[in-house]
Amino acid sequence: MSVPTPTREDHFSFGMWTVNWPAQDQFGSATRKVMDPVYIVHKLAEIGAWGITFHDDDLVPFGTSDAGRDKIIADFKAALDETGIVCEMVTTNTFSHPMFKDGAFTSNDRRVRRYGLRKVLRNVDLAAELGAETFVMWGGREGAEYDSAKDYKAALDRYAEGIDTVAGYIKSKGYGLRIALEPKPNEPRGDIMLPTVGHALAFIAQLDNGDIVGLNPEVGHEQMACLNYTYGIAQALWCNKLFHIDLNGQKSIKYDQDLVFGHGDLMSAFGTVDLIENGFPNGGPTYDGPRHFDYKPSRTEDEEGVWASAKANMTMYLLLKERAQAFRADAEVKDLLASAGVIGLAEPTLAAGETLESFMADRSTFEDVDPDALADHGFGFVRLNQLATEYLLGAHL
Ligand code: GCO
Ligand code: MN
Ligand code: MN
Repeated sequence: MSVPTPTREDHFSFGMWTVNWPAQDQFGSATRKVMDPVYIVHKLAEIGAWGITFHDDDLVPFGTSDAGRDKIIADFKAALDETGIVCEMVTTNTFSHPMFKDGAFTSNDRRVRRYGLRKVLRNVDLAAELGAETFVMWGGREGAEYDSAKDYKAALDRYAEGIDTVAGYIKSKGYGLRIALEPKPNEPRGDIMLPTVGHALAFIAQLDNGDIVGLNPEVGHEQMACLNYTYGIAQALWCNKLFHIDLNGQKSIKYDQDLVFGHGDLMSAFGTVDLIENGFPNGGPTYDGPRHFDYKPSRTEDEEGVWASAKANMTMYLLLKERAQAFRADAEVKDLLASAGVIGLAEPTLAAGETLESFMADRSTFEDVDPDALADHGFGFVRLNQLATEYLLGAHL
């Protein structure tokens, strides 16, 4: 058994803020030095990544003069050209500056709401200039610690107003960008608005410009809410709203760990890669976008450890991909998918052309049924899961 090597064709991308996190936390100062964006682009190319993403402030520190900004962007573009690294997504920091302590689009201070909107719109122009296809919006500070602090209805109105304005701007400019909202239940706020994939999908359905708004679900964020990430992205796919993904690792309900992908719930990571790479067992919409990592190299690591952890994300993904493909190709697995009804679930419950009247009149579906007979078989899900686990462990490779 060997460890696969990532290539550009794998479409792995990294947030600049991931490898460049200097590892300050609530209890201690930074343990690493901040690196230059140009250096990061070159390092990512060297380790086999394909893309990079960033927050405006990751690239251009908040408060930089216009001339300084132009120079940084020009240098960054040159590094992209030189390495072939693609800037596939851009996002905006509307959470670090103290003005955003009560949020940006939903701050109770209207001046902050107006400033936040301008900051985002300015960054949309930059995203378009760099050829990005996705504009992620993670409203990390859009929330509250206390229920009395917000008129939640008004906050939803302002959130929708903000997203619709940005989406309308993208359309009016003819940019090839789509917005991807990123749900998270809490941290840094006590409670964050749009806490889960489900909340965000329902929110998008209320927007005027929702056609170009979708999701960027993050593994750890769904797991912080004790939810199944794979089912979350499955529902987003079902709605044609899976625009982007943030892969990482999380061990159960605790602070946002941002571990390496697969270093949290490994079995769940297997299910996620199985869905992304192999699709639904009965077919349906697939995810063809970047395999994007949003993780944090642990505070214990030096620069060498940073790049080792970046590589670990890609290696984990490729190992899981190899195993998920072998799992799906296994003859017993195929039989079990059929006998367990996984394949049969694609058959509509009502027959083609069957009317509600004829269905209700069909005594064989209800009146004449022996309920115990319907209960008299097992599904065999455990054997199927055992095989998945054995493949995950490399037992059949
Ligand atoms: C988090 C978030 C962020 C966002 C990023 C994009 O730390 O909880 O995942 O990393 O993904 O800010 O806007
Ligand atoms: Mn996170
Ligand atoms: Mn994220």
